Amino acid sequence: MKKKYQVMLVLALFLLGASSFVQTFNLAKSIARGKEVYTANCQNCHMVDGKGLTGAFPPLAKSEYLAKPAGELIAYVLKGQTGEIKVNGTVYNAVMPALDYLTDEQIADIYNYVRNSWGNKSAVAITPVMVAKKRTELTN
Ligand code: HEC
Repeated sequence: MKKKYQVMLVLALFLLGASSFVQTFNLAKSIARGKEVYTANCQNCHMVDGKGLTGAFPPLAKSEYLAKPAGELIAYVLKGQTGEIKVNGTVYNAVMPALDYLTDEQIADIYNYVRNSWGNKSAVAITPVMVAKKRTELTN
């Protein structure tokens, strides 16, 4: 009997340890956090509905740019974006400053929010690890 409890205890501790290893990135929570970070850091230009301002600030809502690889999207925030670009048929030639003071988690959260709002949909999460990797790439 005593031995049985010992086995159960060991098993319980093992499961507890294992679960912290397999803990996956929670996309729903990231999206919820991202809404706040977006509001504070991107909304001034890209607007509350993500539609931007035609000719001045390009849209994020249904932007064809959001289909780009995650690394490129992350780089817009880390490096900023200037020069002529065409988004959904409209030409923009303005300045987006680098917002590299944002943390890896904040940038991941913002994009998970953006990629799942205003008609955008992506079940594949951008994670802080991906942002950290890009940050290292850009500084090297
Ligand atoms: C000061 C205004 C400003 C802020 C703040 C800003 N952007 Fe931008 N963003 C722009 C402008 C202007 C462009 C286009 C630049 C150009 O003409 O080359 C742009 C382009 C982009 C693009 C590529 C084109 C598109 O519309 O899909 C993405 C993606 C983007 N911004 C994401 C973000 C995110 C995410 C944030 C917040 C972390 C952010 N921006 C904050 C002004 C801003």
